[in-house]
Amino acid sequence: MTDKSLEDPKNQTVWEDDGTADVLPGSAARPIAAEPIQTVMHKAMSRRAMLKGVAAGATLVITPSALMLASDDAEAGWKRRRPHGHGRNPGDRLTFETVPPGNEIDVVVPPNYKVDVILKWGDPLTPDAPAFDVNNQTGASQAQQFGYNADLVLWYPLPRYITRSVKLTGKLTRLADRLIGMQYPLLKHHSSHDALMVVNHEYTSGDDMFPGYVSGSPTLDQVETEIEAHGFSIIQVYQDFDGAWHFDISAPFNRRVTGTTPIEISGPLRGHPMLQTSADPAGETVLGCFNNCAGGKTPWGTILTCEENFDQYFANFDSVPSEVKSLSERIPAEDAETGRRWEDYVSRFDLAQEPTEYNRFGYIVEIDPYDPNAKPKKRTALGRFKHEGAASRIAGNGQVAVYSGDDARFEYVYKFVSKGRYNKYNRAANKDLLDKGTLFVARFDAGEVEGDDMGTGVWLPLVWQPGNALDQAGFNSQEEVLLNTRGAADALGATPMDRPEDIEISPKTGKVYVALTNNSRRTEPNEANPRIDNQHGHVVEIIEDRNDAGAQTFAWNILVKCGDPTVAEHDTSFGDVDDPVAAGVSPISDPDNLVHDSDGNLWISTDGQYFSGSVGFGQNDGVFAVPVEGPDRGLLRQFLSGVPGGEVCGPEFSGDNKTFFCAIQHPNDGEAFDKIWPLSETDVSKPSLIAVRELRGKKIGA
Ligand code: FEO
Ligand code: CA
Ligand code: CA
Repeated sequence: MTDKSLEDPKNQTVWEDDGTADVLPGSAARPIAAEPIQTVMHKAMSRRAMLKGVAAGATLVITPSALMLASDDAEAGWKRRRPHGHGRNPGDRLTFETVPPGNEIDVVVPPNYKVDVILKWGDPLTPDAPAFDVNNQTGASQAQQFGYNADLVLWYPLPRYITRSVKLTGKLTRLADRLIGMQYPLLKHHSSHDALMVVNHEYTSGDDMFPGYVSGSPTLDQVETEIEAHGFSIIQVYQDFDGAWHFDISAPFNRRVTGTTPIEISGPLRGHPMLQTSADPAGETVLGCFNNCAGGKTPWGTILTCEENFDQYFANFDSVPSEVKSLSERIPAEDAETGRRWEDYVSRFDLAQEPTEYNRFGYIVEIDPYDPNAKPKKRTALGRFKHEGAASRIAGNGQVAVYSGDDARFEYVYKFVSKGRYNKYNRAANKDLLDKGTLFVARFDAGEVEGDDMGTGVWLPLVWQPGNALDQAGFNSQEEVLLNTRGAADALGATPMDRPEDIEISPKTGKVYVALTNNSRRTEPNEANPRIDNQHGHVVEIIEDRNDAGAQTFAWNILVKCGDPTVAEHDTSFGDVDDPVAAGVSPISDPDNLVHDSDGNLWISTDGQYFSGSVGFGQNDGVFAVPVEGPDRGLLRQFLSGVPGGEVCGPEFSGDNKTFFCAIQHPNDGEAFDKIWPLSETDVSKPSLIAVRELRGKKIGA
């Protein structure tokens, strides 16, 4: 059901969705602030500067009781700030009771919410799949079961005509394909009791998966199980009358893409000699994708899933011939053996035997969830690096922009802009848009004032031409630029960031949000990464010029500098909040994955809070909601607390925003934790996909 209050013209506010933010080709999104953005930001900064003055004079020590006090204050503060019922500000829907920071052994949500586990590692995905058996997992069984270390979570509405088309013909018919292309931009914002979900399986750790695992000497079954536990799952779910979501094991859409699934190499590097191997002399098909971390949805309803730390799977980089090695000097694989030792059984993971296999990883992979026969494609035009996320938006002229971060210390933020234009009526053509276009890398400049946490920026085109800067830097072709993307970005003077993780675009405003998780090795600040020894990370907001995703210049500011607002040394800031402690802001560290709700509020999940900082932050990872527009901009509060040792990944909403989905990755990882999670399990902890719903059926946040 739609929110009637937002349909009332009286309630229309400057940030209301006018439909241009992520659809409607050919119409540039309109400006969203009544005042010029630099003016708005300077006002925010003057408030922040005032706050800093207050914080500097205070002496605060972090203790468990201080945390409890902060959480008590948080609730009291929030109650004072409850909305007045007009529904005019995006933050008004966030009336949930703040979840205190903690280290409980199970997931904690506000009182009127319920958590359901939808799928756990090893759950069979088809009626014929073998049951999970902790002592006898094989590659063959794992290939039919939910994979390990769930990360990205995406929700797709599933109209009946798609299911009928697939059940009747065994495939997605051209008509159904065309229809979903036209309807997806609308349907994705609405309720659907049937849905497809995508869950990445980022990585494996034999120690946590197999009883009796001998590090450095795995068995063949263990190696094959690990390879099949990678990639991602596409599953069908349905919602019951209570609003709970369940996995539908008999659905025709359930499938795994694993470390051995054939994936087409697409775009400029298809067939390139540096991607040819003995098993694939044409250089057109690679087996599997690895370390799929975050990702995103395209405007035409396909999946973008990103290969992140692909370097850790390939052994003997030291033995690679120099002409191949030079392409990956900035993203080297393991010098000798890998930790997983797959190379002992599968020769392609040994670069001494198959040196170019390495060049076939580190890409964004696209696949259509609605087509159970769709072959995934590695989109090489978007560059090769440790892709974390992939957020798409249609530019003013119909071209499609995809933003992606490279998650490593001092790496960069990128944007790809397609050559062709999005066509709502031609989904088949949209599915090839990401094969041609221009890749850019971001340079964040200081702007008018240095040190004010805001500035301007330029998207630098990573385009090779004879005589240009990339040519002079030693690159010989555009293909070399795409293979050695980091090296090319170095040559253009991109801004080294504090580990760019997920990127998301507000569906209300088109502003772009980048999670920078931390960088304890930073000794030299720059304008967009101002804290040396950045233990707790920050979130940068990018406002494209003319609010056009195709722009080549932008403004930016720091939305949140994470940390504990009660600890002055953390040097935190939270949007426009003058006094974060009094306002009830929650302590947060290591922002990682992002999503927006339908009102444009930003939801942040974290990775690594427990051990973050020199003395440890001491709280489980969690999920935090923060308004980014309106009077509550920056009022960040905790909505969910995860489990010890486990990061929280893939925050996602159902189209009606009445369910929140996320993944608990590597639960109880680490020697400090001796429990098994989910608590119903007895043998081994299982990374899982969970759903959270409001028991009265309200939107998440109420
Ligand atoms: Fe897989 Fe950058 O987190
Ligand atoms: Ca500045
Ligand atoms: Ca992540």
